[in-house]
Amino acid sequence: MTTAVEELEAGSRLIYLDHAATTPVRHEVLDAMLPYFSQAFGNPSSLYAIAGESRNAIDEARARVASVLNCRTSEVVFTGGGTEADNMAIKGVASTFDEPADIIISDVEHHAVIHAAEQLEHDGHHVISVPVDQYGIVDPADVASYLGDRDAVVSIMYANNEVGAINDISEISRLVKQHGSQQGTTVVMHTDAVQASGKLTLDVKTLGVDFLSLSAHKIHGPKGVGVLYARRGVKIDPLIAGGGQERQRRSGTENVPGIVGMGVALVLAENERLEFCEHTRGLRDRFLAAVTERVSGVVINNHPQHSLPHIAHISIPGLEGEPMLLGLDFKGICASSGSACSSASIEPSHVLLAMGMSHELAQGSLRFSFGKDSTQDDVEYSVNALADVVDQLRGMPSMSARVSAV
Ligand SMILES: Cc1ncc(COP(=O)(O)O)c(C=O)c1O
Repeated sequence: MTTAVEELEAGSRLIYLDHAATTPVRHEVLDAMLPYFSQAFGNPSSLYAIAGESRNAIDEARARVASVLNCRTSEVVFTGGGTEADNMAIKGVASTFDEPADIIISDVEHHAVIHAAEQLEHDGHHVISVPVDQYGIVDPADVASYLGDRDAVVSIMYANNEVGAINDISEISRLVKQHGSQQGTTVVMHTDAVQASGKLTLDVKTLGVDFLSLSAHKIHGPKGVGVLYARRGVKIDPLIAGGGQERQRRSGTENVPGIVGMGVALVLAENERLEFCEHTRGLRDRFLAAVTERVSGVVINNHPQHSLPHIAHISIPGLEGEPMLLGLDFKGICASSGSACSSASIEPSHVLLAMGMSHELAQGSLRFSFGKDSTQDDVEYSVNALADVVDQLRGMPSMSARVSAV
């Protein structure tokens, strides 16, 4: 039986424009990972030679990550993905406080952060969610203004996964730390940088953060591997108890191939960062210009400057995202209506609503995210395809209702 992907590749085109959801593992990464599945398969905690190879591979990956983050190798904790890194930072720090603390997040965080904060609220902590502007950006002074005289964990995302909005993390860190020293409280700053890797600097000294989360699969690495940068001297309790791996911070036998993949993927993403930004910005801008020309009434939701270069986020009034996605899928184009993680739900995305968008416009939103291998041709083909799908759905209003009811 052939898969949908094989059929599309054989018969027609497959245009993948959902790189903010995930990316294919690149060959350099896969090549680096392969030996650790079956040749050098030893448990890094064992004493014999092949175990030593696994240990060395982890050490090397840790050094690679530390070089990109500009931190010590001892400050790099490998996790089972971005979700785990976010949970570990927020819950792990909150659990070190003796008294209930303030947990400050923003209205547009990923659910990994929002739901982790909600769990802490059940434990008696005070969760405060900071509003955003019409582009999904938080005002740094606003974040600091929510801090009181309690210890606090502040978790504000570096770049948003739906609209690509970029926050000024160094300024937020500076202001919240200043507040902490004036009040004599402990204020710990975390940022979810899962979408920022390969697009923005990850230098933790420049960002001034105590914790930072990454995920390999957004940068052509494997799924189920992430990193938590944990600044030396800042207390954190482990989320997962067990054999004490990762300096007691994350137990469990290490995912050696995954960790190796993370290290290689991150270095490549960092080395190619400027080139990636220039390439995808060019494609994204052409896409937005062409869509504006071809699809009447389209609304662009990206901030003109402070937005990730590879994400085009648009709304098409009067239509719903799902029928448009199905129409695009039929033409071999993979895009997303909001974030992939929330696309199973029919509720409009919390990010778009927090930006002040109406339910109707939010329902008609699409995200196209370009990658290093996307081409000008992909832009032209997808804009034509989208214009056709929109014309078809606008001509058949009942079809939109029929498909979305399935
Ligand atoms: C901003 C952000 N944070 C966290 C995550 C979760 O990362 P992972 O899929 O590795 O658990 C994602 C994934 O979509 C994301 O976009």
